[in-house]
Amino acid sequence: MTALDLSSPVAVVGTGTMGQGIAQVALVAGHPVRLYDAAPGRAREAADAIGARLDRLVEKERLTGTERDAARARLRPAETLAGLADCALVAEAVVERLDVKQELFRALEDVVGDDCLLATNTSSLSVTAVGGALRDPGRFVGLHFFNPAPLLPLVEVVSGFATDVTSATRAYETARAWGKTPVACADTPGFIVNRIARPFYAEALAVHEDQGADAATIDAVLRESGGFKMGAFELTDLIGQDVNESVTHSVWQAFFQDVRFTPSLAQRRLVESGRLGRKSGQGWYDYRQGAERPEPHTADPVEPPAYVVAEGDLGPAAELLALIREAGIEVRAEGEDNGTRLVLPGGGQLVLADGRTSVEFRDVVYFDLALDYRRAARLALSASQFTSPRTVAQATGLFQALGKKVSVIGDVPGMIVARTVARLIDLAVEVVAKGVATAEDVDTAMRLGVNYPLGPLEWSRRLGGEWACAVLDNLHECAPSGRYAPSLALYRHAYAADKQEGTPS
Ligand SMILES: NC(=O)c1ccc[n+]([C@@H]2O[C@H](COP(=O)([O-])OP(=O)(O)OC[C@H]3O[C@@H](n4cnc5c(N)ncnc54)[C@H](O)[C@@H]3O)[C@@H](O)[C@H]2O)c1
Repeated sequence: MTALDLSSPVAVVGTGTMGQGIAQVALVAGHPVRLYDAAPGRAREAADAIGARLDRLVEKERLTGTERDAARARLRPAETLAGLADCALVAEAVVERLDVKQELFRALEDVVGDDCLLATNTSSLSVTAVGGALRDPGRFVGLHFFNPAPLLPLVEVVSGFATDVTSATRAYETARAWGKTPVACADTPGFIVNRIARPFYAEALAVHEDQGADAATIDAVLRESGGFKMGAFELTDLIGQDVNESVTHSVWQAFFQDVRFTPSLAQRRLVESGRLGRKSGQGWYDYRQGAERPEPHTADPVEPPAYVVAEGDLGPAAELLALIREAGIEVRAEGEDNGTRLVLPGGGQLVLADGRTSVEFRDVVYFDLALDYRRAARLALSASQFTSPRTVAQATGLFQALGKKVSVIGDVPGMIVARTVARLIDLAVEVVAKGVATAEDVDTAMRLGVNYPLGPLEWSRRLGGEWACAVLDNLHECAPSGRYAPSLALYRHAYAADKQEGTPS
């Protein structure tokens, strides 16, 4: 099954933000494109807007003048749905309402030919439900582009319950021929990206609600330690708090109010108060004229300890031992018993966040997970009221001696990056186990759809297959609501990793 022939006309119905983007992609790829919108004059305006964007592409020398003129000649608004009769693909991007989309597709079915592929760009409705209205739901697929469609490469190609393999393959190959990176997925709430990404926002909000740290500090730790391009607060301010909350809400509802997807009360209040983010001038941050961006918490410089005692190899944080030595601090190695910790002069311990709270221990400072300890510009530490100030100071001085900024946060189990990454891995492993998408497509989707520095499954391989399950097991013990309970799929994943490591070579 091959991509649609470039001579076949493509229709875009609903010519708002997404419709215009999708139309531009199909047009630049070489198709004749028809635009239809229910609002009078809107399709014509969309054609003009796309034309102006083509002009900018010529200015940026990404398109020649001749290519632009040919593309413009291929672009045509249609007055009625009947004007889409000769199209080989209709991509729908109308308002996100099931009844409106179903009615539209029923009407389209009477207009287009039998072999026309019908596609929805819905981000939160069930593809199966939208296609359920059709006489022939076999030719119906989800083609989920990301905003802005001309720039973002990812397209989730969603197969509903009744979608034919041939239709899904044709849609997939067509997206690829348009220069996109398609991933195939089954019809599940949030598809791949919007399902797996929920904890990225939820865990940051939870740390904030638990008084663990302020928004600026959490964002800085996610960026400078976790390697994420943006923190959860600045990103949701950009997306729009209302838009982000509505996706969370719809995924939670669609999973029958599964506690792992519970929306945040703090975000609800923000939306209710009209603080929607950049677009309203205020969200978690203030974007009004003259407003200052709050600084993340950064500890003042203190002396590093003269030495540390390493018990065990520090697991996912093993690189730290080399960094400490390079900083001229002596590392005394001791037996590996059950240890993956550093002991500081005076007996205080420094332990990688493992989902427990430091209240459980006498004198412990937890440090957060980093994507890459060598490159991380900041590290978060957490301590409880039982941690001695001397241990906090020595831990702070140690990381400062490695050239890191240090943020001391409250005693939240799993800290910031560790709990976020553990939950992303859990949801990703579960998506694969449930046959929603392949591991490779999941990682591609999360890297391209939300810009994660690593796909969650690749991250899990780097951390060791058991890591996420162990962190979530501990978190679940601290907060047994079910939110952190590792999925059965994650247990299996951890068990398989354990077996593999135990296999004699
Ligand atoms: N905006 C995003 O970031 C984004 C990303 C991915 C997917 N989506 C999905 O894409 C779809 C469109 O979103 P958008 O942000 O472009 O919306 P939009 O409001 O910018 O545009 C929707 C357009 O559809 C038209 N319309 C409404 N009902 C119609 C009908 N029955 N027939 C023809 N035209 C009709 C409206 O006049 C409007 O021009 C939604 O399903 C949304 O969930 C949006």
